[in-house]
Order: sequence, then structure tokens, then C-alpha cells
Amino acid sequence: MHPVFLETFGCQMNELDSELVRGQLTTLGYRFVNDPADARVVLFNTCSVREQAEQKAYSRIGIVGKRKAAGETIVLGVIGCMAERDGVDLLRRHPQVDLLCGPAELDRLPQLIDNALRTQSAENAMVLSQEERTALAGNRSRRSSTLAAAEDNLETLDLSRAFDEQAMGGARRSAQVRITRGCNKFCTYCVVPATRGAEIHRPPDHIVEECRRLADAGALEVTLLGQTVNHYRYEHGLALTVDGRQAAQVGPGLRAFRQSPPVGSRVTTFAQLLRRIHDEVPQILRLRFVTSYPRDFGDDVLAVLRDCPRICKYLHIPAQSGSDRILKLMNRGYSRGEYVDFVQRALAWVPDVCIAGDIIVGFPTETDEDFEQTCSLVRELPFKNNFIFKYSPRPGTVAIDRFTDDVPDAVKRLRNNTLLAIQSETSRRVHAAWVGRTVDVFFSEVRAPRLRGDGTPEMRGKVAGSHGGVIELPQLAAAHASNDRTGRSPRADGLDAVSTCWQAIGRTSGDLICSAIANDEASAKEMAGKIERMSILASGPLLLRLGTLPSRF
Ligand code: 5AD
Ligand code: SF4
Repeated sequence: MHPVFLETFGCQMNELDSELVRGQLTTLGYRFVNDPADARVVLFNTCSVREQAEQKAYSRIGIVGKRKAAGETIVLGVIGCMAERDGVDLLRRHPQVDLLCGPAELDRLPQLIDNALRTQSAENAMVLSQEERTALAGNRSRRSSTLAAAEDNLETLDLSRAFDEQAMGGARRSAQVRITRGCNKFCTYCVVPATRGAEIHRPPDHIVEECRRLADAGALEVTLLGQTVNHYRYEHGLALTVDGRQAAQVGPGLRAFRQSPPVGSRVTTFAQLLRRIHDEVPQILRLRFVTSYPRDFGDDVLAVLRDCPRICKYLHIPAQSGSDRILKLMNRGYSRGEYVDFVQRALAWVPDVCIAGDIIVGFPTETDEDFEQTCSLVRELPFKNNFIFKYSPRPGTVAIDRFTDDVPDAVKRLRNNTLLAIQSETSRRVHAAWVGRTVDVFFSEVRAPRLRGDGTPEMRGKVAGSHGGVIELPQLAAAHASNDRTGRSPRADGLDAVSTCWQAIGRTSGDLICSAIANDEASAKEMAGKIERMSILASGPLLLRLGTLPSRF
């Protein structure tokens, strides 16, 4: 059958979409290849959140376009947010593209591929109509009359997931499950509500069943996905399909999150969903969720986080800015004070909770004073990390129409670097507080030693037994000696020198990155997909250093 190459850009939601597409096409007999040169069908699952991601996709489209121009017969498809955002303009500007499919229409992708393949192999090459080449939601996804039908098809796509190696992350044994689609927030800078449509909540029974089947297939970790995941709320009896099954449901208004569900009502809240999965699928040893919205986060969710041992004590909860003025222009719907209150509430309920966030620098009109507010927030809050982005004006958003992108790129870059340095200090502090503790580490990957051109290990840094930690490995002594000879300044955290060893990389329940030293490659690889209780010996801004792996290796 036809070989397909699929490359994914952007977020976890896109990764999951790609997995579903892969499952769907595999069932239909397509086979996937790792090299675009071997493919008859090339698909790019694209992201529109920032311009940079789009540029990357355009350059890939250009490369395949050149091959087509040189006479190769390839079906080139653009799926995901860029397809939805650019729409048929993309076809006009990039005529080498054969099909477009938005994220809310992925159930129609096989038909589009089939149309394109049949046209290309027809003796008298036909020209496909626009309808035969595109599946885009347009404004339809915000019109409630047709919403249910569109969403039901997507629900079928989620439900048709194949529970194989791929679904549970291969050796990593880590899977993702969507609980809500779309977003109703309309932050002024963000393209997501336009590309992914209205907020839709999946039926809880479908979610629990999907988790159970992933666990049966071997997944130990499940990440629940949603743009505003804590908004999950399902009102039973409201939406049923003709055969009586629960159907996906449009998100309720804001008021729903401000009140507890009435006694006796049949509502599944986010907290109840978490507890159901935790209790009904105990084989899942790590249940996490991203991304949370800083408002409308009830104590009921924090209580579940505190009380359920298999729910990860981790929150990803973007602030975006520390300036009230900018938060207002962003239409985020909370003030800096309310955000800080939430973080303090979370830390009070769940003292070990690890928190990460996102920040945008250089939003239109951001002054030095606004930026200083963001710096002080990042200094003040004990976050394990913050993802920092330079503002990127996106067509289709409110911000691009309403504001001029008036912060020069050089200033954005400077602010970006300044914040990274501040966050690095905060991360160092947060990590240091974990040294000496014992944690369960879920290992997922292997890091090879850095080698010089001649194949000998590259010796860098000094291994000081910081925080009282001693790392026993012969290479470390060599690293130490080598460093003494070069006279380079020693690093207090002793993290660099172990880059000369094989390492198994994993994460704590709070998503802190850990590294354990292995004696050889096989021992490091053995660890993938395993959870091991280990002590933290040392720390730096990026990771926690564990001891050597257990002696059975
Ligand atoms: N420019 C820069 N960053 C953006 N993000 C979303 N839209 C933009 C944009 N236009 C960032 C936000 C969000 C993360 C996924 O991407 O910080 O939380
Ligand atoms: Fe975009 Fe805001 Fe929705 Fe997040 S909450 S997806 S930033 S609109």
C-alpha cells in the first residue's frame, strides 16, 4: 500500500492528532515511512501559534514542492492549524499542495488523500475542485446548529484509536488522552480559538475507557490534554446520540465554574473525572494534565491532587505576563494578584506541587515597567520552569488588528534572555530544595556521552560533591583531574562532568527532570519505561542528579 510520511510541528495536541491520523490510515492499509524520500504521500501536521513554526512548515512544503516540480508523483497534504488558518489562500500561494485539512475535520482526511491519489494516477490528470481538496471548519465550528454533527465525527476519530505500541508511547509507556477540544477564551494574541474551534468536552465514559485500554496496552503514564483542561465539565443527559451513547458537549458558560454542581445533578466535574480515572484505572501510575487556565480552578481539583497518590503533583498554568495592564490587553481575565493568590492556594493545598508556566515578552505596548513586573513575578514564584516566548502577531487574532507590534525584535530578544536568566536562578533554587530527598523517577530516554572527535569522552566541569552528594563513578575522577589540568572554573553543581557517562533521563511525579548515571549504554536503555525510587544527590538549574543505577545492571 502507499507509503506515507507524516511530520508533526507544535504542541502535544498536534502529536495526539498525528497519532490518530496514523492509526486511521494504518487501518486503511497505508504504511508509514521515516524518510520523506520513500513516501508517496507526504503530510505536514502544522502549528500556527507562532510565526516561526509556520516558517519551518513552509520550508518543508517548499522542499517537497521542488521534488514535485522535478517530476516526482507525490501527494502533499497540509493538515492542522495552518491549513485552517490560511484556508484556500494556502492552495493559491502554494499550488504544489494537494490537500488541506483542518484539525476539526481530520476524520475526512482519508477521503481527501484518496481523491488526490486517484486524480494523480488518472491517465488524463483531472483537476480536483476546491471541495475535493479541502476539509476546513471555517466559521462552522462556532455555529451550534451544526456543531454536534461535526464533533460527533471527531469523537469517532478519537474512539477509533488503535491501542498499540504507538498509542502508549512505545518503550516510554506514556500516552495522551484528549478530554476537551478547542478553546473559548479568546486571548487576544492567540490563534487557537480560530483554528480549533469552540470548547468541546468529551464524555467521561469515553475518556475512562480510553485510559483503561491504554493501560491494558502497557501505558504507565497518561497525560490528559485540553487547552483549558480544568474547564472540563460534562452535564449528563444533555447530549445523547441517536443510539443513546453520550455525545461530546459544548463547554458551559463561565458561571458553571463559579458554583458547585447542584446536589443530585448529574454533572462530571474535572475533579470527579480525575478521581474516576485514578480509582477505576489503577494500572496508570502517573496521571497528569495540561494546560490549566489560572482562573476557575476549584479547591476540589487541588484536593484530588493532594489525596490521590497516582495523580502527578504538577501544574502547567501559564501567567503570560506579570503586568495587570498587559494582562488586560491580552484579555486573560485575571489580575497578577489573582494569579499569585491561586499559586499560593495551590502550594498551601499541595506543598510538593511543582509548577511551570508560559510567558510572552514584547506584547504590543509592553514598557520596561510592564516587563519589570513580569521579572518580579518570575523571581517571586517558585516555579520549576517557565516557557518564554517572544510575541508573534498572528493573522486572525484580535491583537493583530487592534495593536501595532511596536516592541522591536532586539528588545524582545533582550527581554527573553533576561527572563531566561531570572528563571534559571529560580529553577536552581527550586531544584536545590529537593536534594537529599527520595523520589520515584519515571525513566523515558537515554543520553549518550559527549565524545570528542577522536572518540574519547569530552571532559568538562568539576565534580564537586555539592549539597553533600557524592557521585561514585570512575569517569568522574578522570573528569575532575582533567578539569584541574585545564584550570577551567569549576561548576558547583557538578553536573557537566557526568556528561562523559551514559545517562538515563527521567522525571519525577512533579515533572522535575532527573539524570541517573549508567555504566554502559545497555544499562541506560534498560531503564526506559521503568519507575525507580532513587535519591537526589545534587542539582542544577536544568536537572536533578541521581546516583548510579541499581547494581543489577
Ligand atoms: N506569540 C507568542 N507566543 C504565543 N503563545 C500563544 N500565542 C502566541 C503568540 N501569538 C504562547 C502562549 C501559550 C503558548 C502555548 O504559546 O504563552 O501559552
Ligand atoms: Fe489560546 Fe488563551 Fe485559549 Fe490558551 S486559553 S488556547 S492562550 S485563547
